[in-house]
Amino acid sequence: MRQYSSQIDAGPHRSDATPLGAFPTVRARRLRGSAGLRTLVRETSLTPHDFIQPLFVVEGASRREPVDSMPGVDQLSVDEVVRDVRETAELHIPAVILFGVPNHKDETGSGAYDHDGIAQRAVRAIKEAVPNMVVITDLCLCEYTSHGHCGIVENGTVANDPTLELLAATAVSQAAAGADVVAPSDMMDGRVRAIRAGLDAHGFENTPILSYAAKYASAFYGPFREAAQSAPQFGDRRDYQMDPANGREALHEVELDLAEGADMVMVKPALAFLDVLWRVKQMANVPVGAYNVSGEYAMVKAASERGWIDGNAIMMEILHSIKRAGADFILTYHAREAARLLTWG
Ligand code: PBG
Repeated sequence: MRQYSSQIDAGPHRSDATPLGAFPTVRARRLRGSAGLRTLVRETSLTPHDFIQPLFVVEGASRREPVDSMPGVDQLSVDEVVRDVRETAELHIPAVILFGVPNHKDETGSGAYDHDGIAQRAVRAIKEAVPNMVVITDLCLCEYTSHGHCGIVENGTVANDPTLELLAATAVSQAAAGADVVAPSDMMDGRVRAIRAGLDAHGFENTPILSYAAKYASAFYGPFREAAQSAPQFGDRRDYQMDPANGREALHEVELDLAEGADMVMVKPALAFLDVLWRVKQMANVPVGAYNVSGEYAMVKAASERGWIDGNAIMMEILHSIKRAGADFILTYHAREAARLLTWG
């Protein structure tokens, strides 16, 4: 420092003892002085292209049932889901992820791999009405099983290997309905491999897999389970989803899923796991998504309804933080309201 400062004319007001690179030579506030400057030097920018809009599809027609714990989110019948997808497309959001909520549930979640199941019907209707929308299907059995677990239950727990076959069958039936991407969220070991094999064997070798690779056993999914009617009827999901105390294990899960053929990976939830997202982004040379989950959304809405926080400002701050932490795309219930704000202010 001393060397450099002695080589330049620092001006009469600057003492030789003032090192460059420190106050008062450097003032970080200079670049914050106007909206224009702030825009110029902004490191992270959001666009509607960053978002994936989750949608819940129910049986019936003309149905739009509000989800109490998620203000602004509705369960939609197929005709209504098409309307929402049109609106999503008009906002330049490139993708939706669908969750089927069937009337009929059974032990083996047969509605998940029924060619005429609720998700399959929704995919067909959406692809027909809005062909350019990227339709991602959540691939799990929990919305379809009577016990609410993500696979076949044997001896009080989810049996891993017998579940794989059903997941592969579900993937094939979703792809056959026209799904552009399948997104396994069950956390069974070996599911990406089984799903890839199933898809390839049926001519869907070009259908990508977005794996919920690092999915935690999180209390933040509470409101989703109301929306998807998928709460486990006994026990919890801690023997298949990850322990929230773990970080390194997420990297292992990502490595395994990539080795099995995942095309994209996801970290879920987002906010309490931004460190994990950052680490996954550093090691994975594929697109990395983050799921800004139902509980994260519900907290913002609840506090904002009470006037305790500025909901829009908090929403944008949260979405920026997820992108800054490394997300290439964000699955978020805020997608459309954030896109509107980004487009029209
Ligand atoms: C299905 C699934 C869940 C979520 C996405 N897919 C619930 C769960 O694992 O219990 C949660 C999404 C959210 O909370 O917004 N397995």
